[in-house]
Amino acid sequence: MKLLLLSLSLICIASAVHKKPTGRIVDCDSPEANDAALTALHYINANHHHGYKFVLNQVEDIHVLPETANGEVFYVELDLLESKCPWVSPTPAENCPVRPRAEQAVEGDCKVKLQKQNGNFTVIGVSCKSKPDSAENVFRACPTCWLLAPLNDTQVAHAVDVALADFNNGNNTVYFKLHEIGRAQIQGPANNKVQVEFIFVATNCSKEQALDSCVALTGDDAQYGSCVGSVTQLPGAQDEELDVQCAVYEPQQPQVDPSIPLVPAQPSVVHGHFHHNLRHSSLGPHSSESNSAEKHLAFHSKSAIKRSLGGKHAGPNVLVRPLCPGKKIFF
Ligand SMILES: *[C@@H]1O[C@H](CO)[C@@H](O)[C@H](O)[C@H]1NC(C)=O
Ligand SMILES: *[C@@H]1O[C@H](CO)[C@@H](O)[C@H](O)[C@H]1NC(C)=O
Ligand SMILES: *[C@@H]1O[C@H](CO)[C@@H](O)[C@H](O)[C@H]1NC(C)=O
Ligand SMILES: *[C@@H]1O[C@H](CO)[C@@H](O)[C@H](O)[C@H]1NC(C)=O
Repeated sequence: MKLLLLSLSLICIASAVHKKPTGRIVDCDSPEANDAALTALHYINANHHHGYKFVLNQVEDIHVLPETANGEVFYVELDLLESKCPWVSPTPAENCPVRPRAEQAVEGDCKVKLQKQNGNFTVIGVSCKSKPDSAENVFRACPTCWLLAPLNDTQVAHAVDVALADFNNGNNTVYFKLHEIGRAQIQGPANNKVQVEFIFVATNCSKEQALDSCVALTGDDAQYGSCVGSVTQLPGAQDEELDVQCAVYEPQQPQVDPSIPLVPAQPSVVHGHFHHNLRHSSLGPHSSESNSAEKHLAFHSKSAIKRSLGGKHAGPNVLVRPLCPGKKIFF
């Protein structure tokens, strides 16, 4: 018994020295890491009700705690990239094309805590932030490209109005209202071309009734669509050249997932932002746990301890790290 107590206290000292116990070593490019990352990505996209769906670019780091009766806890750090699918699009993120670097893609950085039980992952907490790629990187990829413009710019608002009015003049019977401007670029030596992407929403009015009092349909009747277009002011002319492509999505059944709060259709307010920050989205009740996720991940790279096959701890000088970060999938 004494011997047992002694060895237990030795283990305690060992864990105290290494602060956080380490479970299995899981490499960032392993199928298991990919499984955890895709579960996290699905959760993040389902809870991000602005801008665009994100796609996975890289698993940066993984730390697994020792198994308990409740399974294992994973701390995973992910690099995400903006896709071309607006968040209202029914296309699953896996099938969404990534935003090319030349368009100043937004990059997301997420720390996720998951539980693995009977082979299934569940997200417990998420903390994300996002920012557009640097001007340096954009111009390296495309020296003649244009950076993102503020979403509340007056030229941007004008281009969106013109494009949406054009769409409303088409064959639809319903009057569609602007829901959210997703991104914008102002191009040309004389700032004469404005490129915009936006989401619109069906209202309770017909096209003929189009009025300010028309309100967005919600619940089962909610219907969204999106447009990508440009408005060009021709030199020396009053006329504008319009080039716009829009799609109306089928009304979607809300996600049947009680852990995901449903967010009512409300226009997003933008104050000089260039993109829709992932940090501002509602990522569930557990995002405050992110601090511990951060600590785990920050500590993790120094903490992995090799275990020999006999189950004994190897000397503290023998550090085995998982193969991390994983490969970048896109750029
Ligand atoms: C794990 O997922 C599978 C397939 O989705 C499901 O059949 C099973 O019940 C799940 N197990 C647990 C413990 O949730
Ligand atoms: C609108 O309707 C006309 C006549 O039915 C048709 O020729 C045209 O292709 C339609 N336009 C669109 C954008 O569906
Ligand atoms: C749409 O709904 C608003 C708010 O309920 C109402 O004021 C308006 O009259 C409705 N418009 C039509 C055409 O039903
Ligand atoms: C856009 O928002 C910023 C920050 O709130 C503000 O300073 C700027 O005046 C706004 N621009 C326009 C055109 O409203």
